[in-house]
Amino acid sequence: MPQIKIAPSILASDFSRGAETVKALEQNGADYVHCDIMDGNFVPPITFGHQFVGSLRPHTKLPLDCHLMVLHPETHFEELKKAGADFITIHKEVCKEQTPALLRRIREMGMKSGAVVNPDTPIERVFDCVEDADMILIMSVFPGWGGQKFIADTLKKAEALRSFCIRNGKPDFDIEMDGGISEQNAKEVISAGVNVLVAGSAVFRSLDMASTIRALRGE
Ligand code: DX5
Ligand code: ZN
Repeated sequence: MPQIKIAPSILASDFSRGAETVKALEQNGADYVHCDIMDGNFVPPITFGHQFVGSLRPHTKLPLDCHLMVLHPETHFEELKKAGADFITIHKEVCKEQTPALLRRIREMGMKSGAVVNPDTPIERVFDCVEDADMILIMSVFPGWGGQKFIADTLKKAEALRSFCIRNGKPDFDIEMDGGISEQNAKEVISAGVNVLVAGSAVFRSLDMASTIRALRGE
């Protein structure tokens, strides 16, 4: 099993205090900063783009994990690279059969790549992406909002993907899950084969960020 990593989603944070937020995440043991980029088209809300991501960059060494919930993700790769993004994850529902080629493009630009599946997209649809991806992100809520209820059915997808990775000689492949993850269900999520846990509300509503991050990790 690969190393467990915690990726707090800043969607649940106060956007006026971005620098302090990422510094606090780093000091309190987070592994990545999960940046939810929404365009008002693929999902109804609009959050932020490369300018906000770039404004965070000088304030942390943590990798910036950019989850693109947008209709034309490829038009943002260049600006995100310049802004200092480390990971770009793109939705299979948007990129369809072009997903592997776009993942290769992200890698060629020097970033890590990932494909994302919504709760109602079968996991088998991204099996052909594993070769070109550094990570697969399984949504455990429908994208668009923080604070939603975890859809437990999505755990089966993590199990199926972890078995696929093991069968294909990639036992340490990174599997990320996003939506409704808390101290209450983190153990189950990890047992299903997930090793990168996104958590927005759980981390930012916590009174003790460090202990919540440790608890999510199963420590
Ligand atoms: C939902 C986002 C998530 C969200 C998670 O569209 O992709 O990253 O911020 O928030 P919680 O942990 O509150 O469900
Ligand atoms: Zn996300």
